[in-house]
Amino acid sequence: MRRTTSFLTSSVGRKVIMALSGLFLSSFLVIHLYINLFLFKQDLGHEFDRYAEFMATYPLLRPIEIILFAGFLLHAFIGIWLWLMNRHARPVRYALHKTGQTSELSSRIMWLTGFVIAAFLAVHIKGFFITSRFITPDRSMYDIVAEAFKNPWTDALYVVALFFLGYHLRHGFQSSFQTFGLRHERYRRLIDWVGAIFWLLIPLGFAAMPLYFLWCK
Ligand code: HEM
Repeated sequence: MRRTTSFLTSSVGRKVIMALSGLFLSSFLVIHLYINLFLFKQDLGHEFDRYAEFMATYPLLRPIEIILFAGFLLHAFIGIWLWLMNRHARPVRYALHKTGQTSELSSRIMWLTGFVIAAFLAVHIKGFFITSRFITPDRSMYDIVAEAFKNPWTDALYVVALFFLGYHLRHGFQSSFQTFGLRHERYRRLIDWVGAIFWLLIPLGFAAMPLYFLWCK
């Protein structure tokens, strides 16, 4: 038990927690995107609403929601901790950041991209999750989403936040494989391809939704 605790509070342990929680949250994005793709179905949102109804009422999903929120909190908390420790260990910032000499920009601004995603999530959860469960539970989820995305400012916020999400995942995804020592020459191309699905295709898929409601509905 003591060995497990000291591993989890060591810097390697913290990186392992970041990698595992990051991959867990990425897997949530795949399911979330899959369900949201029903927004594009030309059936006035019936299929999307059926999924939303299932998500809101199926009892087994409550503990999964709690695990998901705990995963976000853990990832953010340990991320801030690691960032503060790195700053502490290297108080004098480098004046020059040449590729190869120091780390890439996406790696250096993980704290900033992470912060923007956290702010986006607060707005997002208030706008959809809390509104549909507690504020207007009688409205269909499709109507709530369609109305929110009719506002160009909301759409702009989503597109900017999704750009930051892509940038965060660009470094985060490959970094988690590095943590597990899997960025071996043999798997590098495979990891880069799968990584591109997460940092490019998934954010693009999400970004298409506000733009679809703004321009095509
Ligand atoms: C334009 C894209 C998106 C749309 C249309 C969308 C839509 C929704 C809807 C309708 C809900 C409420 C679901 C329910 O109450 O059953 C929801 C919840 C949620 N969304 Fe999104 N979402 C989008 C992007 C994202 C992104 C990029 C993230 C993560 C970075 C995210 C994270 C969450 C979380 C954590 C919840 C609450 C947990 C849950 O209901 O399972 N969403 N979203």
